[in-house]
Amino acid sequence: MATRDATWAYRNRFHESFARTYFRRFADGLVSSIGVGTYLGDPTGAVDERYHDALVEAFESGINVVDTAINYRCQRSERVVGRAIEDADVDREELLVATKGGFVPFDGSRPADPGAYVREEYGDYEFVRGNCLHAEYIDDQFDRSLGNLDLDTIDLYYLHNPETQLEAHSRERVYELLESAFETLERRVAADELRHYGVATWNAFRVPETADDHLSIPEVVRRARAAADTVGNPSTSFRAIQLPFNVHMADAFTTAAHDGPEGTQSALWFAQEAGIDVFTSASILQGDLADGLPEAVAAKLEGDTAAQRAINFARSAPGVTCALVGMSSPEHVAENVAAGTFPPLGADAFDAVFE
Ligand SMILES: NC(=O)c1ccc[n+]([C@@H]2O[C@H](COP(=O)([O-])OP(=O)(O)OC[C@H]3O[C@@H](n4cnc5c(N)ncnc54)[C@H](OP(=O)(O)O)[C@@H]3O)[C@@H](O)[C@H]2O)c1
Repeated sequence: MATRDATWAYRNRFHESFARTYFRRFADGLVSSIGVGTYLGDPTGAVDERYHDALVEAFESGINVVDTAINYRCQRSERVVGRAIEDADVDREELLVATKGGFVPFDGSRPADPGAYVREEYGDYEFVRGNCLHAEYIDDQFDRSLGNLDLDTIDLYYLHNPETQLEAHSRERVYELLESAFETLERRVAADELRHYGVATWNAFRVPETADDHLSIPEVVRRARAAADTVGNPSTSFRAIQLPFNVHMADAFTTAAHDGPEGTQSALWFAQEAGIDVFTSASILQGDLADGLPEAVAAKLEGDTAAQRAINFARSAPGVTCALVGMSSPEHVAENVAAGTFPPLGADAFDAVFE
């Protein structure tokens, strides 16, 4: 598991190559504000090898955050993350390893008959578009992730896109499902198999309260506190949310949707004030922003390339601990990690982008 001492040692090894605030606090440790994502790519051995080399390069050049999910590339992404951790010249304790459970994972490749596979492997559970939050299912998935990653402890475990459940269940029911899945995760924390947990979303936290797929961050946090109480943990280990954020998808900053102490706040402001860490997904719009950003925004950001400026936009937003960027090529790793050699925007300059 990532430890305070090891992540500080990692920071001390690398920080002189980076600009201010490249390494940021996460719990008692330090993490890079650029992380590697592992979502895109075909479930093939050739893509596994690309990811392996990209991950090793990332860990050895100043990125100590990796994000995956059990369903990504039919479990191949988790497995290659495990291999890269083993092979890279870094200690496991220096790395924040995050994964997710919720979407049904295939095993290595897409089966000829996906319905039959799911019935055979997971017949006891009810899925909504391939998504299940049932506590026992999450428990099962957690063990499989530990096995895939070949780790004793996961640093950060997200429930994956819980808003999918709103297509079949009331909002109250979805909060109940979350609370009982959180109890499972609190038990994993008590057993030292998990450090922190959170919720990864696509729409839930950035859409207005009136939207069908909205979930409230304060309500989710209340449910996490209740789960910790039920399990007998002194405080909740709910710590992070994940949401898409980039120049063209900035609603987590612009849309007020969460009841804060002084009125309704955007997801980013709410998280910042509540001490919840935000990890951004799709930070370069699944590669599109590498072709260029709107001129007016690009002019305000530092970086030699469009991808670097796009990454620096995401890492400049309030509340953001780390911008996740999918990278399966070592060349992209080298370009993206160098974004951290430029300073992010200060708070006023970031606000000015939206004026
Ligand atoms: N709901 C959720 O929970 C959710 C949803 C989406 C994503 N995520 C997480 O967030 C991570 C990031 O999002 P994402 O991967 O969807 O999108 P992204 O990070 O915006 O873009 C990844 C794509 O950009 C390409 N790329 C990376 N650096 C580049 C560069 N310097 N120049 C040109 N192209 C470059 C990558 O290509 P190569 O692979 O060839 O390097 C990949 O195709 C994911 O990997 C995943 O871990 C979570």
